[in-house]
Amino acid sequence: MAHIQLTVNDARSFLDVKPEILQNKVNELHQMIHEKTGKGNDYLGWLDLPVNYDKAEYARILASAKRIQEQSKILVVIGIGGSYLGAKAGLEFLNKPFKKKKLEIIFAGHQMSGTYLANLLDYLKNKDFSVNVISKSGTTTEPAIAFRVLKKLLETKYGKDEARTRIYSTTDKKRGALYTVSKNNRYEMFVIPDDVGGRYSVLTAVGLLPLAAAGINIDQMMEGAKDAYERYLDPKLSKNESYLYAVMRYLLYTSGKKVEMLVGYEPNLLFLNEWWKQLFGESEGKDHQGLFVASAGFSTDLHSLGQYIQEGERHLFETVIDVKKSAKDVLIPEEDSDLDELNYLKGKPLSYVNAQALKGTMMAHKDGLVPNMLLTIPKFDSYTFGYLVYFFEKACAMSAYMIDVNPFNQPGVEAYKKNMFALLGKKGYENILK
Ligand code: PA5
Repeated sequence: MAHIQLTVNDARSFLDVKPEILQNKVNELHQMIHEKTGKGNDYLGWLDLPVNYDKAEYARILASAKRIQEQSKILVVIGIGGSYLGAKAGLEFLNKPFKKKKLEIIFAGHQMSGTYLANLLDYLKNKDFSVNVISKSGTTTEPAIAFRVLKKLLETKYGKDEARTRIYSTTDKKRGALYTVSKNNRYEMFVIPDDVGGRYSVLTAVGLLPLAAAGINIDQMMEGAKDAYERYLDPKLSKNESYLYAVMRYLLYTSGKKVEMLVGYEPNLLFLNEWWKQLFGESEGKDHQGLFVASAGFSTDLHSLGQYIQEGERHLFETVIDVKKSAKDVLIPEEDSDLDELNYLKGKPLSYVNAQALKGTMMAHKDGLVPNMLLTIPKFDSYTFGYLVYFFEKACAMSAYMIDVNPFNQPGVEAYKKNMFALLGKKGYENILK
């Protein structure tokens, strides 16, 4: 039994061919992924992470999460890109809004706003906090600056010895600036395996430590990922929703669509969108190829982007996430005057109205020549989050290989850095601006 369902009928009706036409190609690429013979094959460690991970380190993650909860009211998670988005997506996916949290998680080092960091320092001044600094390379500018500043605050506030016990670092196994600082200061250290790239690292300490510290059941998350891992060992498109999704993206792309929008009708999905955009955008946008990935939160964005989606340039398709079961609901009350003319909905749950908005929008967008696929997930729980992470990671590898790009590097990210370093006067970059 699949834990998520992918319905592609609407999108299929826009195509001249059926996805099954690509089954042989999928089989070939599946073999290439599992035999690790394709481009970027030394970054395929994420593939069997759900069944092959360091159990001793996993136990340390759980123990450290408990220690963080005991020692602090706040955990500041420092990281950017793949060292930030997975944990943020998981926290939002599982968030119960307006509920007081055991431990507040705050992110830093994911941008370079001085105002944000100054406000954060003010906020932390009189509160107990710990830091989880995450960087595989250990040299990324944004988190490195944030860590330098927050380490200083910790040391001033608690003294060097105690500060050391409040810093948890997640980095490379044996090299890099963060590795050396962590080793020298005897921080509690966690490893980002050599063969797992940033955006594929949610199921390592990168995602697991902040999520566990926030009180999320990471055992269930790994269980969900493991079930997805097992299900997607079979490349048959009739069974493998992950590959079917990749094939549909490819067929829509080659039929002229240039933009995929991931849309949901629940605010808990907004950061899954952001994680997904990084995963697919950084993996596929190479060699002047790849779908541009965008996202929207409906029905909010139906009142902004909705107009464009319905009637603008026809280069879009949508992947719509539907959540089968609402954790809570509200019934629409009756009102004597019925001035707002809502009495026809009296006694109906809001989830019912939201579901009709989803159906009605999909029909309208299809009529407006925007193909859409429907991805149904059971509910917001850690099992489903783990399952979804693996679903998208495997789909992304397949999808990138279908357009023959390396899914695991990001050479284009270096361009802005070189110019920025030259403008900042970093040694070795003097000639760049010439
Ligand atoms: O997916 C990736 O590899 C990148 O987005 C990185 O995660 C991001 O650039 C941060 O790198 P690092 O963890 O080395 O600081």
